Amino acid sequence: MSQTPHMGRREFVQLVTGFVGAVMGAVIGLPAIGYLISPATKRRQSEAWIPLGPLENYPVGVPTLFNFTRSKVNGWEKTVNSYGVFVVRHPDDSVTVLSNVCTHLACRVNWVPENQWFLCPCHDAQFGLDGQVLGGPPPRPLDSYTQDAVKIEDGNLFIFFKEA
Ligand code: FES
Repeated sequence: MSQTPHMGRREFVQLVTGFVGAVMGAVIGLPAIGYLISPATKRRQSEAWIPLGPLENYPVGVPTLFNFTRSKVNGWEKTVNSYGVFVVRHPDDSVTVLSNVCTHLACRVNWVPENQWFLCPCHDAQFGLDGQVLGGPPPRPLDSYTQDAVKIEDGNLFIFFKEA
């Protein structure tokens, strides 16, 4: 005697219920899982134009410090870093923008008006107004922003910042 496959009403209802439950679980669960793990797969854009304010705020020939912060998100971790640049405005309203980080061991340099140089407090290095090394251990000049990384729009100064 041969047996034909036969599904009873109870099995059919169980099958349909299981299928509908699986579909509903996927519809609800997958976006929730994506929401929970998405921070781990995203990195925040680490470059941007930073506004440094009106050019008029910067006196001609006097390096003027501008500090700013950038937050960085890596997965669920968020860090806030502070940066500083010296803006040197020239008589023709062009500008030189220098990092305030010493190229020796990354201490922050200060402008010393009496000597007309930047002084690094860590190992007494000196840098000229153009960032060139005048003395001390630094292996290279202060980092500077190239002309295509500096812009003036409507009298406001911007630098294009790239996080290392
Ligand atoms: S860190 Fe600036 S001279 Fe050493």
